Amino acid sequence: MTVLTYAEKINLAATAIERACGSAEIAVVLGSGLGDYVEALSDVRAIDYKDIPHFPVSTVAGHKGRWYTGTLHGKRVCMMQGRFHAYEGYDLADVTMPIRVMQKLGVKTVILTNAAGGVNLDFHAGDLMLINDFINLSGKNPLTGPNLDEYGARFPDMTYSLDRELQALTLATAGKLGVPLQQGVYCWLNGPTYETPAEIRMTRILGADAVGMSTVPEIIVARHGGTRVLGISCITNMAAGVLDAPLNHAEVMEMGNKVKGTFRTLLDGVIAEL
Ligand code: HPA
Repeated sequence: MTVLTYAEKINLAATAIERACGSAEIAVVLGSGLGDYVEALSDVRAIDYKDIPHFPVSTVAGHKGRWYTGTLHGKRVCMMQGRFHAYEGYDLADVTMPIRVMQKLGVKTVILTNAAGGVNLDFHAGDLMLINDFINLSGKNPLTGPNLDEYGARFPDMTYSLDRELQALTLATAGKLGVPLQQGVYCWLNGPTYETPAEIRMTRILGADAVGMSTVPEIIVARHGGTRVLGISCITNMAAGVLDAPLNHAEVMEMGNKVKGTFRTLLDGVIAEL
């Protein structure tokens, strides 16, 4: 039996997606509660993750596990309804395989969305936050191991991990559309437990504005491979200890649902301008 390399698995997955759905120039990863945004696409073709060779399958409620490609504002856009998280037990090579596949398919811009807990005390549940930078508190990095030289350098820059031009364009678009948009630093902790109040106080001291269990591995791999990244968090709840109440996943999903209209307005506006 031949053992395939990671790079070969990426190529096989990319070929299957290209056959089923075609390629795309823009990609959107839809976070918890935001999966309905695929409805914005026209001329849609889709493939279930389980039908993509070597692709992981998602296990979280609210993450559906399907890849869509379609047209939006005259552009070819692919969308992932469901992403992979380290807390599900995947290693980071699996978590970030979709980003590598996007790079193979010729995607130049990826928009990463997520649900996050608000750490900044000026935030409120329901706010949207443009991600300016990140803190990786997971102790892990998706580029650990042999470098994939065909994608990028061994020691990639993270000064501009989140594309400055895309951030400016998003702020201008939000202003034009009257969509309130916070900005800040997203901090990745592994999960699946929500953080403790002490951990949230720590992340605030460290400079975080929001916390979550995703997105950072994807930012790192996108940056490594030269893909422009835009990150937007939906602050679905204030983080642990900010309010005197326990956190739960149902509340996160519910708030995702409540803000999806505004979220969609902003994403549509940004994609139209790309
Ligand atoms: N913490 C971590 N991840 C999250 C949160 C949170 O408070 N809310 C949504 N995703």
